[in-house]
Amino acid sequence: MNIILLGPPGAGKGTQAELLQNRLHVPKLSTGDMLRAAVKSGSDLGRKADVVMKAGQLVSDDIMISLIRERISLPDCGSGFILDGFPRTLGQAEALNTMLHEMHRKLDLVIEITVNDAALVERIAGRFACAKCGAGYHDTHKAPKVAGVCDVCGSHDFTRRKDDNRETVASRLQAYHLQTVPVLPYYKQQGILRSVDGMAEIKDVTAEMDRVLKNLSK
Ligand code: AP5
Repeated sequence: MNIILLGPPGAGKGTQAELLQNRLHVPKLSTGDMLRAAVKSGSDLGRKADVVMKAGQLVSDDIMISLIRERISLPDCGSGFILDGFPRTLGQAEALNTMLHEMHRKLDLVIEITVNDAALVERIAGRFACAKCGAGYHDTHKAPKVAGVCDVCGSHDFTRRKDDNRETVASRLQAYHLQTVPVLPYYKQQGILRSVDGMAEIKDVTAEMDRVLKNLSK
């Protein structure tokens, strides 16, 4: 199954993609994670992406499209994938359609996660992750079971993203409204767009997504 999770920064795409990949047994492909790995590696792409991401803007379509083209061609995507953070522009959406068509594949479902702008800022400001295994947490909504200890790997080392500050979040939200929202009618027209209420609790958003998936297979 080939799925896209769409939504503004902090909507819960990463959280739900992580849970969904365990249930569907297909990998989640986060373009944000790919870019952060490139930044960490100090590659040419990473250095360019770092400047753009810190400003809360979008990395160019050319770069993103070739990253995804390469990634979905790998064998672990043979049974499907969950895209988290791609496409983010109409150009990326159209390029994805073309590349899937060339691969004799198609998109099954696009799930939009809706959240109020005000809630997004609070969510992003409270987000942190384990520096060792990358498990995601939130100061109030998803704290580690034992304070200061990662639930998954036991590490005591945590980190916060460089673009998770109020100024950058404002730019990221603006980019979402201007460049990503126009992608929604594109998928609505294809009849594969569904929306879930991302203001609900994490477990309830998961349950709603499961209902959407169940209806799809009927
Ligand atoms: P990316 O890493 O994709 O960031 P984003 O889209 O801004 O989304 P986030 O990761 O911030 O949020 P999320 O929706 O995954 O929410 P999460 O689950 O973490 O992109 C970063 C940058 O890379 C972009 O700004 C851009 O520069 C560049 N980039 C990436 N892809 C690109 C592309 N295709 N084209 C061009 N540039 C690109 O949840 C957030 C927090 O809320 C967490 O702490 C979580 O625990 C909590 N939470 C989640 N769900 C709930 C809930 N239901 N209730 C309460 N809390 C919740």
